[in-house]
Amino acid sequence: MTEFCGIELAHPIVNGSGTFDAIAARRAFGDALLERFPFAAFVSKTVTVAPRQGNPAPRLWELPGGMINSIGLPNKGLDGYLAEDLPKLAALPVPLIVNVMGFTREEVARLVEAFAARDEVAALELNVSCPNVKTGMVMGADPGETAALLDAVRQLTVKPVVVKLTPNCASPADVAEAAEAHGADAVSLINTLRGMAMHPRRHGQPWLGGGTGGVSGPAVRAVALVQVAEVAARVSVPVIGMGGVQTGRHAYDLREAGATLVAVGTESFRDPLAGSRIAAELAEIEGRNLASSGAISA
Ligand code: DHB
Repeated sequence: MTEFCGIELAHPIVNGSGTFDAIAARRAFGDALLERFPFAAFVSKTVTVAPRQGNPAPRLWELPGGMINSIGLPNKGLDGYLAEDLPKLAALPVPLIVNVMGFTREEVARLVEAFAARDEVAALELNVSCPNVKTGMVMGADPGETAALLDAVRQLTVKPVVVKLTPNCASPADVAEAAEAHGADAVSLINTLRGMAMHPRRHGQPWLGGGTGGVSGPAVRAVALVQVAEVAARVSVPVIGMGGVQTGRHAYDLREAGATLVAVGTESFRDPLAGSRIAAELAEIEGRNLASSGAISA
């Protein structure tokens, strides 16, 4: 058992927001998905107040060691999510963490308030990787913006609030410290690194319909490791570490750097059961270390 913000989890492996469509997987795999759910908690994709179509195609570019995606946060909006997605996600056999994003503090407050009232929701994750349209600053790129956001939403829920940190800023550790000081119960990192790819034929044009996108996969693992280590050294709240995790050893490394939970993202696109495999590999490594430390006599 792993404890996270008062929530009991079967193991330390969860999914990164937006990287595992549990509703589509349920349709594809049926009840087998519920019997062998790959994650100890499910982090849903980002919900915004208004419905969004997402970005024009193409939305993906493959890289050596990962990919760039520019999906554009398509979702049904708050009302659609509550009516259609939440009942389906509540049927999963693990706690549900809902990821929300707003373009103003008021929008984030509206989302937090709505999910605060739902027993199906175990915790909230704030996606702060988008610009505050009122201040023009990316909420999670600046400690003051992050502090002001938490001041606006913290008192609206007693559920754990996780802040998903962006690596695209001067100091994720400074932002994490501000988040903790203003009431965050946990932080998660890393989100994707901004990147782009040029169109192979159209001169001077980007490939992605959205222009730029987020880099993920093994290519970002070393970046994740240093940022998780720096953030974990700075805060006392639990850290969810992620970035290019493909094996139990990678998850173990992030735990050694200070993460309590580890999220799997891009690897789940290659293998939808990667979460279960990585959890088993991690348990094997940690079990072996416990035995060799003398904590358990063989
Ligand atoms: C989206 C892509 C990302 O890489 C990310 O971290 C968040 C959102 C998106 O385009 O939907």
